[in-house]
Amino acid sequence: MTLEAPMDQGSCPRPPAPLPRERPLNPLELLHGLWTNPLATYTRRAFEEPVVLSKSLLGELAVVSDPTAIRHVMVDNAANYRKDELQRRVLQASDEGGNSLLTAEGDDWRQQRRALAALFTPRAVAEFLPAMRQSARWILDRWAPLRPGRRVDVAAEMSQLTLDVLTRTIFPSGLGRDPVDFARAMADYFDVIGRVHPLDVLGAPKWIPRVGRPQIRRSQGFFEAAVEDLVSSRRAWLATHEGAAETTGLDLLTRLLTARDPQTGAGLGEAEIRANVLTFIGAGHETTANALTWSLYLLALDPDWRAQVEAEVDDLPSAAEAASLEPFVKVRATLEEALRLYPPAASLSRAAIRPDVVAGKRIAAGTVVIVAPYVVHRHQRLWDHPDRFDPRRFMPGRRETIDRFAYLPFGAGPRVCIGMGFAMQEAVLLLATILRHYRLDLMPGHRVEPVQRITLRPRGGMPMLIQRR
Ligand code: HEM
Repeated sequence: MTLEAPMDQGSCPRPPAPLPRERPLNPLELLHGLWTNPLATYTRRAFEEPVVLSKSLLGELAVVSDPTAIRHVMVDNAANYRKDELQRRVLQASDEGGNSLLTAEGDDWRQQRRALAALFTPRAVAEFLPAMRQSARWILDRWAPLRPGRRVDVAAEMSQLTLDVLTRTIFPSGLGRDPVDFARAMADYFDVIGRVHPLDVLGAPKWIPRVGRPQIRRSQGFFEAAVEDLVSSRRAWLATHEGAAETTGLDLLTRLLTARDPQTGAGLGEAEIRANVLTFIGAGHETTANALTWSLYLLALDPDWRAQVEAEVDDLPSAAEAASLEPFVKVRATLEEALRLYPPAASLSRAAIRPDVVAGKRIAAGTVVIVAPYVVHRHQRLWDHPDRFDPRRFMPGRRETIDRFAYLPFGAGPRVCIGMGFAMQEAVLLLATILRHYRLDLMPGHRVEPVQRITLRPRGGMPMLIQRR
C-alpha cells in the first residue's frame, strides 16, 4: 500500500496515511482492500465532495461527509437508519448470536441502553476517578525498572493499561484471567475478527469457514470461557447475597444480570449478557488504547509541541492527584487531534430503511450510508491542512468553532458512544501522567502504518524508545 511519505511541514512531518485512490476499485481490488486495510479503499472524491454515491459489491453505497447531511442521518432522521448487516456481521464475531448494546436495534437496544446508562452519567464517571488514578500509578510502577533507551511496544502497553482501568472500574471483581493473557488474546482476536472478510461482503452464511479465523479459535475459546466464568460466578454470588445488587451499582455485570424492562419486566437473555461483556471489554479498552498510542506517536513527531505539553504537565499538580483534569488543555487538545487524524472507530455505517434525500441526493431504500470519521476528519472542505498534525485547532477559543458534525470520533445522535466521558477522563489522566514522567521517541527505521481492524491501529504495534524525564 502506498503511504503518504512524511514530508517537512515546518517542524512536524506529515503523519502517515494511505494515499486516496484516484479511481474506484474494481470488485476484486475492493475485496482485497477491505480485507487488508479499508482505510486504503477511499477515493480522492470522498475527501473532496459532500456525498459520494456508488454501486459496488456492497450494493448501493453513499459516503456522506457533509456536516448537515451527517446530522440528518445520525440525528434528525436517525429512525430511518439501522446498523447495516456487514458492520453487524463483523462486530458480532461471537457465534452465539446475541446482540450487545453496540449491535442491537429498536426496543432491544433501548432496553439495554436504559439499563446501562446509569454506569456512565457524569457523576458515575467522576466516581471512577480514584480507580483510574490507581491505573496511572500502575503504569508508572510497571515502567520503573526499564532501562533508558529501551524499546517498548506502546500499543501493547496502552492496551494493558486501559484493560487495567476497566478491571478497576466497570469490572471491579476482575476479569478472572491474567490481564496480560487477556490483552494478548484480545489483540489476536481483533486482528482477525476485525477484518472485513470477503465472504462477509458477499453475504455468505456463517457456517462457511473464513480463512484466518480457525487460527484464532484458541483466543476465541479463551474469551468464551472467561466470559462464561465471569457471568456464572457473579450469578451464583448474587443468588446467595440478597440485596447485593444495590451495593454493586457501578458494576457492569450486576447491571446486566439484574436489568429489567420497566414495561414487560423481562431481563436480558443469556446471549445478550455475554455479548455485552465481550463488547464492553473490547469497545471499552482498545479504542482508548489506540487514542493514547497515536497521541504518544504524534507527540514524538512534533518535539516543539511536545515540549509545550510537557511544560503544561510539569506546571500543574500531578494528574494522578489533581482535583480536576480541566486545566490540562494541551493534553486534551493532543488527544482530540489524535482522535481526528486516527479515529479509533474509523467508519460508521447504516442502512437506509426507506428512501431518503441526503444533501440533495436521492438515497434508495437499502443503501449503505457510510459516515467515516476518518474521511470527515480529513475532508478538504472542512479542515485547514487536514492531513497535518495541528493540535492548536483544539485549544480553547478555536475548539468552539469546530462544527459538531465535522468532528465525530464518538459518533453522534442516539447511538453516540456511551463511554465518551469515561474515555476522555481516562485518556487525559493517563496521558498527562505518562508525559510527566516519561518521554517516548520514534524508533529509528520503523515504518508506522495505520490499519483498520475494527479499531484504527498501527500495523504490527508501535515500537518506541522510552526515557525517564
Ligand atoms: C477513545 C475511545 C472511544 C472511541 C473513539 C469510541 C467510539 C465509539 C463510536 C464512534 C461509537 C458509535 C458507533 C456507531 O454509531 O455505529 C461508539 C459506541 C459505543 N461505545 Fe465507544 N468509543 C470509545 C470508548 C468507549 C468506552 C470506554 C466504552 C465503554 C466502557 C465504550 C462503549 C461503547 C458502546 C457500548 C457503544 C454502543 C452504544 C450504543 O449503540 O448505544 N466506548 N463508540
